[in-house]
This record gives sequence, structure tokens and C-alpha cells, in this order.
Amino acid sequence: MDLNIQNVIKSYGAVKALDNVSLNIPHGSLVCFLGPSGCGKTTLLRAVAGLEEIDSGRIMLGDNDLSHTPARSRNFGVVFQSYSLFPHMTAARNIAYGLECRSWTKAQIAARVREMLDLVHLANQAEKLPAQMSGGQQQRIAIARALAPNPSLLLLDEPLSALDAKVREELRNEIRALQKRVGITTIMVTHDQEEALAMADVIVVMKDGHIEQTGTPQTLYQQPLTSFVADFIGRMNILPLDKTAGNSLHFADKVLKLDAAEISGSAPVSKVGIRPEAVSLLPATQTMPDDNHFPATIRSQIYLGHISRLEVVPDKRPDVKISVEMHGTANRAGYLPQTGDAVTLHLPADALRVLS
Ligand SMILES: Nc1ncnc2c1ncn2[C@@H]1O[C@H](COP(=O)(O)OP(=O)(O)O)[C@@H](O)[C@H]1O
Ligand SMILES: [Mg+2]
Repeated sequence: MDLNIQNVIKSYGAVKALDNVSLNIPHGSLVCFLGPSGCGKTTLLRAVAGLEEIDSGRIMLGDNDLSHTPARSRNFGVVFQSYSLFPHMTAARNIAYGLECRSWTKAQIAARVREMLDLVHLANQAEKLPAQMSGGQQQRIAIARALAPNPSLLLLDEPLSALDAKVREELRNEIRALQKRVGITTIMVTHDQEEALAMADVIVVMKDGHIEQTGTPQTLYQQPLTSFVADFIGRMNILPLDKTAGNSLHFADKVLKLDAAEISGSAPVSKVGIRPEAVSLLPATQTMPDDNHFPATIRSQIYLGHISRLEVVPDKRPDVKISVEMHGTANRAGYLPQTGDAVTLHLPADALRVLS
């Protein structure tokens, strides 16, 4: 069953933590709420969990209106950032606890605990207390505990953010694989764009209590609609257009050519963006067609091993620095740019995005 969030509003005094949020979460998908601190991710997750009463709007699971159902009756599994395991109980007892509360039989509980420990690859840690396990192991037990009663939804609030980078990356893959195996609809809150890109079927980018854009990782990266999304997921050069009258877009004294689909909207274009890896550089001596090619100069160059990052300034717009990323040190044409070089900067039309 899909989870359907309809026009949800939640205020804390003067702060609108959720400002008319609507969203459909398809059954079986892993959805990430992504955004900077304070944008309302936790509030939205807690509203879904029933831990936060909403001011207005509805939360539907299939045809069931859960808006006013108490948390304990929603049958959702919840995992928070800080390890919320019962410290005096072993891993196995932690997992068993919720099943005892639901009056499962002893035999059912024993079988389920074993199954859950196997699922998170911690069968050998069954008798350990939380303090005797690593942070990553504790979070896996917390997930096993949340999944044990067969919840209809799994809700994770920054479950990896207290872990160190290596463990975080391992657990990222493990949660993703586990979620697919179990097939449970999952919402994960994160402020880490890389985590969201790596794990989510769908990313919901939030800002100031509203949804900025929803889409697959590919869509959000390749077709961001706003400069906020473009900048929050990856890096984006925003080209300040020349101030000219009329409809055509001018940049560095030339008419900028964009794909027709990009400029089909009704609103006037004010911002155009391009990803650093989509910009190409050519030796100034190479003759090129006129489209979106600009004489420019390389200002700086940083070698980062797998990529090089360059700063390039168009000769006709010396106020604009364009960040360029190249794999290795040479671009596809085998050209190795150096600081101070005069180059031809190419902004391919199919890589230019109109942003609002
Ligand atoms: N219990 C609360 N009382 C008052 N303000 C709150 C409370 N919880 C959250 N807020 C405010 O609501 C906004 C959204 O918070 P939150 O959902 O926790 O953001 P996020 O999880 O994205 O960091 C913030 O401005 C925060 O200060
Ligand atoms: Mg939060």
C-alpha cells in the first residue's frame, strides 16, 4: 500500500515546520527526506510515525486514514540516530521485547529473533549487551528490532550519522540490500546528499518546511528545477546572464543556445546552470563552431587524483568563475590545461539547465 501525505501543516509557535506538504510514497520503495538542518525532515517523519500531532492535512496508508491513529497502533518500525537499544538487555532480548509486548508465543519469538539476527548478519552477537557492540552493530540490531514485528513501514531518522565514514558506507549498502530483500516501504531522513543518492529510489529535497523537488537520484542530479536543489545535490555553476533586453539569453557577449525543452516554461529565464563535469575545455587554437564557445583563461588548477578541478574565467565576463572538473588530468581530447592558458570554454547546450 502506498503512503500518501496530503497537505500536512505543522507549526511550533511561529515556526512552520511543515508548510503544506503533500507526497506519495509508493509501496516497497526506499525514500530519502534530504535537506539542511531545520528544514522539517524529522518533523515529517515523526508526523508519519504518529509521534507528532499534525495541525491539519491527512496521512493515508492505502485507504486507511492514520492522521489521528496513535503511534503504537500504526505498526511502524522506527530507528533513530542515537542508539536507542535497551542498555541492560542483550541483542536478542532487544529484538524479542516488542514481540513479547505483542503476545507472540515463546517459540514464535525465538524463531523470529534468530531470523532477524541472520538478516543483519549478527547471529554471533545474540548474547552481547549494547555496550559490548560497535556503533554499526548496535544500529543493525536497532533495525532488526524495528523489523521484527513485521511493520508495514520502516522509518529511519539519520540512522548512520553517528557512525564513522567507513562503517557508514558499509551500512548504507547493507540497509539498501536488506530493504530490497524484505520489500518494506522505508523512509530515511538524511542531510547527506551522497547517502541519499546511493540509497534512495526517490529523494525528497526539503527546504524551510516545504518540498523543493521530488525525483529519482538521476532526475534530481540531471534535471534540478531550482538552484537550491542544484547546489544541494552535487555542484552547479550558475551563469549570471548578461543584462540585455528581449527574449534571447546572452552570456559573455554571445547568445546562449539551450535545448528547446529547457526554455519551454512560461516564466522568464533568470538563471542557467551547468555541472562542472559537463563543461569542456579546448585549446584556444582549435577552431570551433560558434555555439556556446567562449574565449577564456584558466585561473587555477587543483589536482585531486581521480579528478582535476579548474577555475576558468570567460574573457568577456571576468567577474564569473566557472568551475570545471575533468577526470584524470587531461580531457577527452588529450589536452592538458595549465594555469594561465588561453582556452576555448564550451558549454554544451544539452547540459545547460534553466533554474528557478
Ligand atoms: N519540539 C519542537 N519545538 C519547537 N520547535 C521545533 C520542535 N521540533 C522542531 N522544531 C523546529 O521545527 C523546524 C524543523 O525541525 P526538524 O523537523 O527537526 O528539522 P530537521 O530534522 O530537518 O533538521 C526547526 O525550525 C526546528 O527548530
Ligand atoms: Mg532531524
